[in-house]
Amino acid sequence: MKITVIGCGSIGKIFLAALHLRGHEVQGWLKLSSQTNLVVNIKKPKGDFFYKIITCNNIKHLINSKLLIVCLKAWQISNVLLPVLDFIPKTTLILLLHNGMGVIEKLGQLNNPFLSGITTNSAWQKNNIVFHTNNGVTHIGPINRISKSFKFIADILNDAIPNVVWSDQIINICWYKLASNCIINPLTVKYNCKNGNLFQFSEEIENIIIEIYKVMKKINLDVNKNKLINYIYDIIKKTSNNYSSMLQDIRNCKKTEIDYITGYLINKAKIYHINTPKNNNLYQLVKNLEKINCDYK
Ligand code: PAF
Repeated sequence: MKITVIGCGSIGKIFLAALHLRGHEVQGWLKLSSQTNLVVNIKKPKGDFFYKIITCNNIKHLINSKLLIVCLKAWQISNVLLPVLDFIPKTTLILLLHNGMGVIEKLGQLNNPFLSGITTNSAWQKNNIVFHTNNGVTHIGPINRISKSFKFIADILNDAIPNVVWSDQIINICWYKLASNCIINPLTVKYNCKNGNLFQFSEEIENIIIEIYKVMKKINLDVNKNKLINYIYDIIKKTSNNYSSMLQDIRNCKKTEIDYITGYLINKAKIYHINTPKNNNLYQLVKNLEKINCDYK
């Protein structure tokens, strides 16, 4: 299948490599339109390496792609994707794979079939090498009527990347993941630590979860408090050796996804008059650090 991966950070590169290895015709799509090649160098979870130079930014390849996988940061998506949508046929399937929620609202009317996805694959990059530390699960599912018939895409992806699962209740799963990001990401920034170090802050974690749980319950999601707590601790355990993406962003003076994670939760809570003081504090803490550390262009 002809596929374009938009946004080639760690997760984008993992998808490019895996799909290439299964014989798909893949290309990357990068901000810098003059860049036509991308070095994809990955140290896989078992220690073996993938190395290949992958073609980028070929407009013909983009137009003929049957699938676009968008692996950008939440706050980048509408700016990058909206101009691309003008080029591609209305039948091209688009899979959004990112942390946080609230992106779809920013895209306006969705004329193409759209899938939402979340992944617990974890990876980080140093000196252009991706360290893929953990093979997680990737859930994908339909977010508009015309994407409901694309279940077969989960099989195609699963054939390349282990553990891709189709879910008709993708929004529910996105909320579980959002909850884990509301805990892990700002707390690892607050304590400047690896995910695994968060086990010592269990009381604080559980107080934050209670606020999130109230919001999830209010919007009628299928949520169980103990299941939510266990889900979050399971992610902390499985990614214990990782630095969260938010801590990596703060350390690298990059804009974080806090507005699409804790910010999204707080906005939903406001609608239902639910107080979220713990999440508000974490939101302010990350916003302040963003301001102090970074000089956005
Ligand atoms: O944003 C991240 O870093 C990841 O979503 C997660 C699961 C919190 C692991 O670090």
